[in-house]
Amino acid sequence: MQLWNKGFEPDKLIEKFTIGNDQELDLRLAKYDVQGSMAHIRMLESIGLISQEELDKLLPALKEIEDTIEKGEFTIEDGVEDVHSQIEFLLTKKLGYIGKKIHSGRSRNDQVLLDLKLFFRDEIKKTAEACERLFVTLQKLSEEHKDKLMPGYTHLQIAMPSSFGLWFGAYAEALTDDLQMLLAAYKIANQNPLGSAAGYGSSFPLNREMTTELLHFQNPHYNVVAAQMSRGKTEKALAAAIAAIASTLGHMAMDVCMWMCGNFGFVSFPDELTTGSSIMPHKKNPDVFEIMRGKCNRLQSVQNEIALLTANLPLGYNRDLQLLKDIIFPATSELVGCLEIADFMLQQIKVKSDILEDKLYDYIFTVEDVNRLANQGMPFRDAYKKVGLEVQNKTYKPTREVHHTHLGSIGNLANEQIATKMKGIISQFN
Ligand code: ARG
Repeated sequence: MQLWNKGFEPDKLIEKFTIGNDQELDLRLAKYDVQGSMAHIRMLESIGLISQEELDKLLPALKEIEDTIEKGEFTIEDGVEDVHSQIEFLLTKKLGYIGKKIHSGRSRNDQVLLDLKLFFRDEIKKTAEACERLFVTLQKLSEEHKDKLMPGYTHLQIAMPSSFGLWFGAYAEALTDDLQMLLAAYKIANQNPLGSAAGYGSSFPLNREMTTELLHFQNPHYNVVAAQMSRGKTEKALAAAIAAIASTLGHMAMDVCMWMCGNFGFVSFPDELTTGSSIMPHKKNPDVFEIMRGKCNRLQSVQNEIALLTANLPLGYNRDLQLLKDIIFPATSELVGCLEIADFMLQQIKVKSDILEDKLYDYIFTVEDVNRLANQGMPFRDAYKKVGLEVQNKTYKPTREVHHTHLGSIGNLANEQIATKMKGIISQFN
């Protein structure tokens, strides 16, 4: 049964094809659909389109539906197209003609748009919280291991002294940049599309400010066409933020995989956090970080998928937009899963001390020694040449003294300043 039924039943094959995964995906929108309907009917009452009496019957009926959703008992029945239809059918079954009144001044186009905005707001907050938890762990590890030196690489060649403090702290600060992108997606999502109806507004005198306030949006998406256009655009902004976080996380996962490799042996994990081989009895594999790397790489393609799905669509609603849900819904959950497992793993990471004592890393100190000579008054270029020739003649002996003091370096990690920056970003998600 369709909301738009006009006396003929659509072909079953057509129905199945067009509904697609909506009956399952829309379950995640159900509670937002109820919240949206509650705000909408309050507004309808305020402009005289339904009576106070009718509102008093509708609100508890919606509350009942909300309770079944919370208990996980809400389903979309066979043959019902989507969550919007299911809720309207339930209301009509319970309240008769009153249930049929709630759709005045609304279309499923702005209804789904609204549900999505409310859903994204929550998903974005969950993602920001997961990022923040990982950030806190990374900063803690950075402080804990700030004196443990490790090689820094350029061109994947041994380059200059780095430290675990610098490494953990780097991923913490990188997350603050990613969160700026997530915040931009949040701001785009935090605008009320309700009242845009099918995409061109309504001849009812809708009070859009009222629903904006009731649903705690920052502002209405004023222009009704712009509001409709935000379907796809919001997802694109979110996908860009997902890609940014995934890129940081995937990069970190790659470092961990490399450093767990026996040739490096910089980090390790308790046995129960590693996996084994069915043939090689000695193996302790970093599967968690490999899966994380793979998922994070795949998550970076979400923005491409959305760009292709929405490229050159005509202005206004098009059913293609329904497929955005298939792409973006699993992506946010997958990213949060990756952030959570990264946090769990890192809390148990073991870090090797005295890595740079190994002769393999002798040349890592050349720049320190050049700088020491320059500090003593020798022109930098002469000092560079002197140490360079020692390396060339194999007479170079490192002093192994590392003395970095400037802001953001191994001797001055600026973790406090980075934490303040993070706090400032996180506070804007409310
Ligand atoms: N399932 C649809 C979607 O996600 C709901 C909106 C349907 N609107 C319509 N005019 N057919 O886009």
